[in-house]
Amino acid sequence: MRRSLFAGIGGYLPARSLTNDQLAAEYQLETSDEWIRERTGIERRHIANAEETAAFMGAHAARRALAMAGIDATRIDCIIVATSTPDQAFPATAVTIQAALGITQGFAFDLSAACSGFVYALSVADAMIRTGQVQAALVIGTEIYSRILNWQDRGTCVLFGDGAGAALLLADEQPDDAPPIGVLSTHLHADGRYGDILYIDGATGQNDKPQHLVMNGREVFRHAVGKLAGAVEEALKANHLTTADIDWLVPHQANRRIIDAMGKRLNLNDNQVVVTVDHHANTSAASIPLALAEAINDGRIKPGHLVLIEALGGGLTWGSALIRL
Ligand code: COA
Repeated sequence: MRRSLFAGIGGYLPARSLTNDQLAAEYQLETSDEWIRERTGIERRHIANAEETAAFMGAHAARRALAMAGIDATRIDCIIVATSTPDQAFPATAVTIQAALGITQGFAFDLSAACSGFVYALSVADAMIRTGQVQAALVIGTEIYSRILNWQDRGTCVLFGDGAGAALLLADEQPDDAPPIGVLSTHLHADGRYGDILYIDGATGQNDKPQHLVMNGREVFRHAVGKLAGAVEEALKANHLTTADIDWLVPHQANRRIIDAMGKRLNLNDNQVVVTVDHHANTSAASIPLALAEAINDGRIKPGHLVLIEALGGGLTWGSALIRL
């Protein structure tokens, strides 16, 4: 059976990091460190400079994933970039990254699924690898929400940060009777009826007004845990596994309260849940690969561990994946 091995992971964060207090002072926000920490768990976030675009950050993260795997960029035949904040409408940010990495073979495209983007992109790459269309894929989440935030809206602008993460998947033939390694399954969902609770008000083609993120936080919160738990149950059932088999939960990093609720629901200890929302804030499609990079690089997640990832975002979109490292 052909599967997608998780061969490398890398992250990139802008050098500039702002605490809640620094952010409030810089943008003259009527907020407090206490309010933000209590409601979200966020303490600081990275904010990109002019040079650090989605493609710039994504290319850096991809180089780190390639270096970790010891794979030359010339072996990559597919680049999928999950982003809601591309450098341009086209060429796709994936194509800009392809050029930055010196790759001239294969194909590259962007995928839009907001904060679920990495799970969606992983699912697409995994399907292409399983069918034999792709041998080596870079799956990248890269986001620069600081450019689409309404800095007058304290209800949203304190929640997000910039950054990128990249995973390298390699096709691997595995015996049918051996325990599977790599991406075990992905489960995706969308329900466009809820498009109006989290969106960007405008498109690149409508340049008569600035584009800003708009969110009804309470409504998003209301949907999050139930929908995520459903996607997780599906993943476990499809693989004949239970919550007791999970070594690590690496959730999308939107809000500490949602993360804690999911950990509790899955009967996991705090030390089985990777949390970066405190120092990254919500980096949308980049948050899961950034969290994976942090926990793999510091040795918490080890080869053989079973990792569950899940995300929910604008759309609404949501999904889960199980990966045996
Ligand atoms: N600082 C201080 N006060 C703030 C504030 C801030 N940064 N942002 C909002 N407030 C105020 C509001 O103005 C409101 O004041 P009012 O009662 O006088 O009108 C009060 O706090 C409560 O606002 P509300 O939006 O109802 O707060 P909440 O308890 O729902 O918390 C979120 C807001 C955003 C933290 C919460 O809804 C949430 O986490 N939602 C999920 C968001 C999410 O995960 N999005 C990403 C999905 S990918």
